[in-house]
Amino acid sequence: MSSVRLENISRIYDGEGGGVRDFSCTIADGEFFALLGPSGCGKTTTLRTIAGLESPNAGRIYFDDRDVTALPPEKRNAAMVFQNYALFPHMNIFENVAFGLRARKMPKADIPDRVAEALGYVQLDGMEKRRVTELSGGQQQRVALARSLAVHPDILLLDEPLSNLDAELRYATRAQLAELQERLKITAIYVTHDQEEAIELADRIAVMKDGACHQIGTPAEILNAPATDFVRSFLDRFRASR
Ligand SMILES: Nc1ncnc2c1ncn2[C@@H]1O[C@H](COP(=O)(O)OP(=O)(O)O)[C@@H](O)[C@H]1O
Ligand SMILES: [Mg+2]
Repeated sequence: MSSVRLENISRIYDGEGGGVRDFSCTIADGEFFALLGPSGCGKTTTLRTIAGLESPNAGRIYFDDRDVTALPPEKRNAAMVFQNYALFPHMNIFENVAFGLRARKMPKADIPDRVAEALGYVQLDGMEKRRVTELSGGQQQRVALARSLAVHPDILLLDEPLSNLDAELRYATRAQLAELQERLKITAIYVTHDQEEAIELADRIAVMKDGACHQIGTPAEILNAPATDFVRSFLDRFRASR
């Protein structure tokens, strides 16, 4: 497990604007941290930059005291779960979950146990032979989560992982995710546009708008002491819906 420190990170797309500007934060080892804000505010860009899928134009990224800014994704030991699952439809569940292990050249003989362990975390024990296309959306997202956990990542990055699920399944999966994160004590960075999700899941939340971070605080802090008018109005929308 490790802490994550972002120092003045900017990722600005060529000639397009957008992206994220001058973002700094420190995420503690084992913390559940949320990036919260409306669509287009730069959440995915920030997450992809932490994963190493985007290079920042400026700033540094540290995992513990290790500067990972120039490292490719596979050398960071962070694992990402995507909104659309990004499973391989032509592979069975086993092969999907084993994918990252093979990429890391784990000895063949060790792979089945690791896959079984990861499927156990998400209550899909014994589903190795099933095809991705036979699974429901919720099951597919759990396979994606198992795939990311199989490599024993230090940091779990989740990009709106529940947003394609219907409401009932979203609540159930959210509870499982919270329980799993607590049990594995893994550092989690969770992107969402959903105020309730961030408030329910996260130890601390960074509220973003237009590529800028408006506030970092506990759910109670952002609810009770919003730092900007935007944070106040964005959380008011959540309060109004309760
Ligand atoms: N590859 C890209 N090229 C150009 N602009 C991009 C790219 N990805 C994202 N953007 C822009 O950067 C901004 C932030 O996008 P994103 O990080 O995806 O936001 P969010 O995940 O919060 O919805 C948006 O204005 C988006 O249009
Ligand atoms: Mg996004």
